[in-house]
Amino acid sequence: MSKLKIAVLISGNGSNLQTIIDKIEEGYINAEISVVVSNKENAYGLTRACERKIKTEIVDKKTYPMKKDRNKKLMQVLGEANVELVVLAGFLEIIADEIIEKYENKIINIHPSIIPSFSGKGYYGEKVHRKVIKSGVKVTGATVHFVNKETDGGPIIMQKAISVNFDDDTRSIQKKVLNIEHEILPLAVKLISEGKIEVVGNRVKVK
Ligand code: GAR
Repeated sequence: MSKLKIAVLISGNGSNLQTIIDKIEEGYINAEISVVVSNKENAYGLTRACERKIKTEIVDKKTYPMKKDRNKKLMQVLGEANVELVVLAGFLEIIADEIIEKYENKIINIHPSIIPSFSGKGYYGEKVHRKVIKSGVKVTGATVHFVNKETDGGPIIMQKAISVNFDDDTRSIQKKVLNIEHEILPLAVKLISEGKIEVVGNRVKVK
């Protein structure tokens, strides 16, 4: 079977990107990362990509102050790389509707909570975990989902939960959640690369 061509979009540390790189190298996922795109020029994930000689692109506000120009550039980068799957791995910018339309059910996102809790506009990164602690919930986790026009609203592919203990703080929750992100994101990419994921309405069937 030919390798699935993927683009990974990042904004920061890129630990999820690293896991995908490692799982491809191990042979767990039959895919190749055609391009890593960052909307931050200093994202550490860019260094991780360069270390593995993966092509990188920076589509940031400094070079493209207008949102429409960033979208146009992103569309061009994805098109030129012929990608079949776009993985948002800590990409903290809303994807434009035209890109979502062109890549319908071909863009996935990892979110650091059990959607629909602690998700939607304004819920990203550490902020999510701060709100989790404040709310007093006993369970949180991570979700991999397809991206549609509703923020964090697309069909859910996979979720996994962790316990929130009384002594937990934002840091410890983030660590526990990242650990499960590093498990479910590569698994979702693997299943997609094997054609085992089917979208049925707003639900996902794992074959
Ligand atoms: C991850 O926790 C991911 O779930 C979150 O950003 C972090 C990126 O970490 N994404 C969102 O909050 C999207 N709404 P990483 O750069 O180490 O992979």
